[in-house]
Amino acid sequence: MTSVPKKALPIEGHDRRPTERTDWAQMMTDDEYYPFLVKKNIRPAIWRWADARPKLEELAKDKLRRADRRFLSLVNADTGEAGGVLPSLFLGLQIINPGEHIVPHRHNSYALYHIIQGEGYSIVGDHRFDWSRGDTFACSPWALHEHVNTGTEPAIQYVIQDMPARAMERNLMWEEPIGKMFHMVEGNLPHSD
Ligand SMILES: [Fe+2]
Repeated sequence: MTSVPKKALPIEGHDRRPTERTDWAQMMTDDEYYPFLVKKNIRPAIWRWADARPKLEELAKDKLRRADRRFLSLVNADTGEAGGVLPSLFLGLQIINPGEHIVPHRHNSYALYHIIQGEGYSIVGDHRFDWSRGDTFACSPWALHEHVNTGTEPAIQYVIQDMPARAMERNLMWEEPIGKMFHMVEGNLPHSD
């Protein structure tokens, strides 16, 4: 017969004083809430290739750090903390030098890739996609993926993700490199070590 402990084991934090009020817990009437709920306008925005290209060329001089990538993220400041081109959408340009291999990783944001320069291949889940300029492929959430530039010029991928939506829900997760998990909350970022 299993013996039952007479006293419950202490659990850390259970003896702290109960919280009565939190200042940030607000109550609003209809008149207050609906105007509060209306989000400010997100202004249309344009990012010029003429501005992006020299920045990408500068980024391409950096050595790849471990599983790091070279991304130029396009951000509309009107999206505030969401940090997207639109509140729920990330758009970035990734540059991969000839012969480089972006090692396998995954995230719970989806990724759509459109090749605007160069050639190579990507392993996405069980598939190998060979690509060149004009091709598009999709990487579903949490699918392992890696990229290789097999050409002679830098490859540039135009990448769309739902990262801002995931991040705003505080459920954006990464595994990069394999075996190293990141939950994208304050104080825990990929590429931070
Ligand atoms: Fe990725």
